[in-house]
Amino acid sequence: MDDSQREQAKRAAGVAAAALIQPDMLVGLGTGSTTRFFIEALCQRIEEGLSVDCVATSHHSEELARSLSIPMRPIESVTQVDLTVDGADCIDPKKQMIKGGGGALLREKILAASSREMVVIVDSDKWQERLEGDIPLEIVPFAHKTTLERLKIAGFECKLRMNKEFPYVTDNGHYIALCPMGSAVQEIPALHLQLKAIIGVVETGLFFNVAGRVLVGFADGHVEVR
Ligand code: 5RP
Repeated sequence: MDDSQREQAKRAAGVAAAALIQPDMLVGLGTGSTTRFFIEALCQRIEEGLSVDCVATSHHSEELARSLSIPMRPIESVTQVDLTVDGADCIDPKKQMIKGGGGALLREKILAASSREMVVIVDSDKWQERLEGDIPLEIVPFAHKTTLERLKIAGFECKLRMNKEFPYVTDNGHYIALCPMGSAVQEIPALHLQLKAIIGVVETGLFFNVAGRVLVGFADGHVEVR
């Protein structure tokens, strides 16, 4: 897929997700370029008369939604969300995912876990037989060196995500370590638990047992629901 085909596939998935929103829902807004298409399509439905409230998984999505006059609630005030729509970096047939490419994995996981359904929107290249790519880990900043060292001793040679010459800082004031998935066949829940048990790791970008419908967008504009 070239860039314009990928855009088309992401747009198709995002627009299809906006069609799932029912009146008076509390909707979780994910983060990323695919979710952007969803938020814009949702805005159009609101302009046509749909009444919803929304809560965002990142400052970035919150700002985008507010700029489109989408009614927002602060995440602090929310206990139960009706439906959250979010992207993924990679997803497998068990609907296990790597997320956090946009640095928002902690809030994304909290909202996904607080939602009656998490709808995942991806372009077709992200549907893979086996998860691949680095796993983002949200880690505490003041102990990042010792956390990286502990990860290394456990066999995970991680790199700190950088923003130019400075560590990237999440909306929660944490850093992100990028952990290679490795080639060994691993059970994702066990890998998540192993990583999360390392002191200093706040949350991992491995998501499982949380995705409901997955909307896979294709370059020709069609969408498959899996
Ligand atoms: C942000 C995420 C995103 O959903 C993920 O990175 C996919 O992003 P995009 O839609 O831009 O490809 O997890 O933390």
